[in-house]
Parts: sequence; structure tokens; C-alpha cells
Amino acid sequence: MADSDDIPESTVHNILEQDTLKWVFVGGKGGVGKTTCSSIISMLLARVRPSVLIISTDPAHNLSDAFQQRFTKTPTLVYGFKNLYAMEVDPSVDNDEFGTEGMDSLFSDLANAIPGIDEAMSFGEMLKLVQTMDYSCIVFDTAPTGHTLRLLQFPATLEKGLEKMMSLKSKFGGLLSQVTRIFGVEDDFGEDAIIGRLEGMKNVIEQVNKQFKDPDLTTFVCVCIPEFLSLYETERLVQELTKFEIDTHNIIINQVLFDDEDVESKLLKARMRMQQKYLDQFFMLYDDFHITKLPLLPEEVTGVEALKRFSRHFITPYQPSLEKGTVEEVEQRLSRLKEQLAEAEAELEKL
Ligand SMILES: Nc1ncnc2c1ncn2[C@@H]1O[C@H](COP(=O)(O)OP(=O)(O)OP(=O)(O)O)[C@@H](O)[C@H]1O
Ligand SMILES: [Mg+2]
Repeated sequence: MADSDDIPESTVHNILEQDTLKWVFVGGKGGVGKTTCSSIISMLLARVRPSVLIISTDPAHNLSDAFQQRFTKTPTLVYGFKNLYAMEVDPSVDNDEFGTEGMDSLFSDLANAIPGIDEAMSFGEMLKLVQTMDYSCIVFDTAPTGHTLRLLQFPATLEKGLEKMMSLKSKFGGLLSQVTRIFGVEDDFGEDAIIGRLEGMKNVIEQVNKQFKDPDLTTFVCVCIPEFLSLYETERLVQELTKFEIDTHNIIINQVLFDDEDVESKLLKARMRMQQKYLDQFFMLYDDFHITKLPLLPEEVTGVEALKRFSRHFITPYQPSLEKGTVEEVEQRLSRLKEQLAEAEAELEKL
């Protein structure tokens, strides 16, 4: 947490330390590193929590790319972990398991009447399912900004849907069910069934809505890059989150070029200056946030090993001058540990 000078530290330690957290959203503009960051945050959380689930709600799923493992809408254990699960859901299509099947006719009319209700329904069903699964922490790898904001409105959209159905019901009484019968809609999919489903979900919605607005339980991590558009989008995102009363106090600035003495390229130097301008602005605008800077690597960050290697920048501030020494130090420490382990094993053998 913040030190005595009240300057938030430049890592995501605060997220790992906040053991009340249940929902961690990771969002930002397209391509800035949301999937990379959410995957690493989930891996780090898995070290300190009994069980963690990472969910991708981006229709262009990329958890599979990041972890180099195929995921589906059923939570699957990530290779190499005992308590980290991943699933990919698409709120914009009907997910059979989430219970929107067979709801054409009347439901699609309702869906047309309230934009986003079908998506909201399947998101609500997904949350309902996830809540019963008892994960200690759930990390969301969200789709680019606009989509994320819509997702956060789902609980409100569902509530509106329910209200609308209830008012229709009280206005027209049994008429609606007669109509559905005339048009041959089976009871299971008729008005009562839909109201039943919406009502059944009301508890979940209310619960989740309350949880999302509780900073002890939910936080939103904004990922960005040090460029004008990303700064602008981050500000918009932070404002929207404030409007939705969703806590946010972490910004991850990815793809930072660090001023290594070795850099000679004019282009790189120019870009560093440009980045510095926006970094300064980020630090000025968000002085009460934890801002974590991540270096731009020469290669992509894919596969568990690469993610693990990159994860150290989430818990130790990046310092280019120490990097080479640090790697060597870590390797030395590792080989010393290996020696100790071998000695201990030899001792055990003797026993
Ligand atoms: N600091 C970095 N250095 C080098 N490559 C990176 C870095 N961060 C992310 N990448 C790579 O950049 C690509 C985009 O990252 P990622 O998929 O995490 O972004 P995203 O915000 O989830 O994108 P999208 O909006 O498409 O979902 C990936 O190939 C990832 O491996
Ligand atoms: Mg992504």
C-alpha cells in the first residue's frame, strides 16, 4: 500500500494485498496489453489466493493466445497451475448454457424493445454461474473500452427489462399470455416464463450490482500506453467508472521505452521524448493512483513462461540500469538454491 509519504507505489502489489477483492476488471483501448496484463494479474493472484478464474469477455478471444492453450465457456485449469482457471465467453451471442435458448419469439421482441437486454441476460446468467463456483477472485479480460462500459451497464439494463415486463404484465393482465398462446408460443417460453427468468435473476443482479460498486470487492485496472489517444481514452474510462461508482485506482502504462544508455537510434529517442511527455501527464493527472510502468519488449509476451518472466515488472518497478545485473543475480541465486536443494536431497537420502 501507500507509504508514509502517501505516494502510491508503482506496482500492482496493492491488488495482491487487498484480500477482500472478488472482481478485478482489466480494460483499456484496443491492443494496449489488456490480455497480457489481466493474464499476469490472474497468475499473481493465484499465488496468494485459494482459487482464481480469469474470464475473457472479448468476442475476439485472446486468452488462448496469451496462455497458448485452448479455452471454452467452461472454466479450464491453466497448464502448470493448480488453482488458476480460464474461460472465454461472448456476451453478444447466445450461450446455450447461460439459458437464452428457445427464447426467440417473445424474448426477441423484448430484446428489441430494450437494447442490450439479450447480452445483459447472458452476462447475468454467466455471473450467476460464476458466483456458484466459489472462486476466491475473478479477473475479467475485457474487450476495448466501449464494449466494457456497456458490460458494466448490464445490471441496470436487466433491471430495466424486468421493470418493463412487470409493467406490461400489470397493464395487460392475462392478455399477453393469451396472445402468446394464440401465436403458438409454448408455456416454457411464454411471458410467465420470461418474467420468471428475469425475476429469478433479479437477486443476482442486485447482488452483483452491489458488489461491483463496493471498492472492497471490485476494482478496475486501466491499461494504456504513453500516447495521446490512450491518455484521452483512459480519462474517459476513469470518468465513466466514476459515474458507475466503480472503484479504480490502478493504471498500467504498457510499452514504455526506457532510457537505456545503449539507445542510439534517433527514432527511438524521439519516441522516448514523446512518451515522456504523456508519462508526465499521466503522473500529474492520476497522482492518487498506483501507476505501474511496463517496458516494451523486443518480442511478444505469449505463453506461460513469457508471462511469468514479464510478471516481475508488475511487482518490482522496472529499472533499466539494474536489469542486466538483476537477471544475473537471480540466476546466481537460483543456482545456489539448486545446490542447496541437491544437498538437502542428499541428506534425506542418508536418512
Ligand atoms: N510490453 C510489451 N512488449 C512487447 N509486446 C507486448 C507488450 N505488451 C503486450 N505485448 C504484445 O502485444 C500484443 C497485444 O497485447 P494484448 O493482446 O495483451 O493487448 P489487448 O489490449 O488485449 O489487445 P485487444 O484489444 O486486441 O484485445 C500481444 O501480441 C502481446 O504479446
Ligand atoms: Mg485482448
